[in-house]
Amino acid sequence: MHYKRYAYIHTIGCQMNVVDSEKLTTVLNARGFGYARDPDQADIIVCNTCAIRHKAEEKAFSFLGQFAREKLKRPGLITVMAGCVAQQEGKKAFKRLPHLDLVLGTQAFSRFSRHIDALTSGQRKIVDIGPSDVIFEAMPDDTGFAENKVSKFVTIMQGCDNFCTYCVVPYVRGREKSRSQESIVNEIRLLADNGIREITLLGQNVNSYGIKEGGISFAELLEKVAQIDNIRRIRFATSHPKDLSDELIQAMACLEKVCNHLHLPVQSGSDRILKKMNRGYTKDTYLSRVDAVKTAIPDIALSTDIIVGFPSETLPDFNETMDLVARVGFDSIFAFAYSDRSSAPAAKFSGPVDEREKMDRLNQLLAFQDTITLKKNQQITGQVVEILVEGISTRQHDKFVKTTRHTRQMTGRSPGNKIVHFPSDTIAAGDLVNIKIENAYPHSLWGRPLEQPSHEK
Ligand code: SAH
Ligand code: SF4
Ligand code: F3S
Repeated sequence: MHYKRYAYIHTIGCQMNVVDSEKLTTVLNARGFGYARDPDQADIIVCNTCAIRHKAEEKAFSFLGQFAREKLKRPGLITVMAGCVAQQEGKKAFKRLPHLDLVLGTQAFSRFSRHIDALTSGQRKIVDIGPSDVIFEAMPDDTGFAENKVSKFVTIMQGCDNFCTYCVVPYVRGREKSRSQESIVNEIRLLADNGIREITLLGQNVNSYGIKEGGISFAELLEKVAQIDNIRRIRFATSHPKDLSDELIQAMACLEKVCNHLHLPVQSGSDRILKKMNRGYTKDTYLSRVDAVKTAIPDIALSTDIIVGFPSETLPDFNETMDLVARVGFDSIFAFAYSDRSSAPAAKFSGPVDEREKMDRLNQLLAFQDTITLKKNQQITGQVVEILVEGISTRQHDKFVKTTRHTRQMTGRSPGNKIVHFPSDTIAAGDLVNIKIENAYPHSLWGRPLEQPSHEK
């Protein structure tokens, strides 16, 4: 199909932003905008932004800043700041980006279509950071399947009520709201009909799904989703340790389609810091939830988020975090240096940690985790692991070049979310295959399919 006008969307931030950007694309498509692969070819440029750390926010300003000059050359070009930074900044965004045409807050996505019409009829400098009663639920259309993906994210909740003291999310995403089970199930059926085989259910705290609305629990939602034909794997993020229920652990253990992987952000191993963060658990209660999970699901893969250098964090506090990391044995971690967010209470807490000290602690933590991740990967060598194939690898492994006669190197993920490469000329994206793992690397595994047709061995 040929379009008269094109849109380019640049996404910064979490998986929810990825979903929101897909939905913004759908709205633009319904308004007659095709998808541009390059901003130079676009009539409208949208940056979907993230405010979680200072660096993410700066990325948004520098990306959009590039187009000030371009607009002098092409006055018809429309630029949009959308999402979390837009919600946070409102009309202040014009101070640094006077050439912006629309500031679209997170609650204003459901009014995007109306704003596009206003923009195309010549209106400029629109700011919408108003509230919304409805959840932004544009159903995926054909544009969403253009890339022939196997796996998709589905947002089941918006916002957050937890108010961790370092975090902007409750301020930029608003109060927690759950989507109806019908709407979620309908969307996943549609995705399955279009070839999607794996879905990841998203929310800031999926364990509290439906509680406010008095609907079914998250564990019950998992059961409903598991009944959908052709969906082979289900993942979810994020679980808050204080709300991780036995019911959910049981559901994970019983439902075959639910992957044995749990992302359980701990943030810190120090009780004093956890309290200041308003996390609602201690190091011991976290460790005992991890034990409950490991007992119910012995091959569970665990991952976490950690913040180092929270205000007043001392070396002994940091060492508590290192000790927790050693005791849990995470398969992977996401670690961040604490970043002051002016709307979050911790920005006013005393005892800021020196930037260099933060980076030292961060590097120490990451180096330690690298050794654990490699050990975990090495433990898998020799085992047979079921892989959901995602497609042909973009980069060929040394092992591939040296040891096979195949023309294609494929890539996929294990239930524990590890990337696995293997040679095959017949196995296709969307297949579930058993791979015997032969080699472990820091960030991936290499193996061979058990069911490789004999002529390919
Ligand atoms: N809702 C999820 C994650 C939200 S943001 C949860 O509760 O875990 C993703 C991660 O960013 C957080 O887990 C935290 O580790 C990190 N993060 C949030 N605010 C931050 C800040 N001000 N500085 C550094 N890291 C932060
Ligand atoms: Fe932020 Fe805490 Fe909510 Fe996660 S649970 S989004 S860290 S306030
Ligand atoms: Fe960032 Fe907003 Fe997600 S602040 S992490 S894009 S909810």
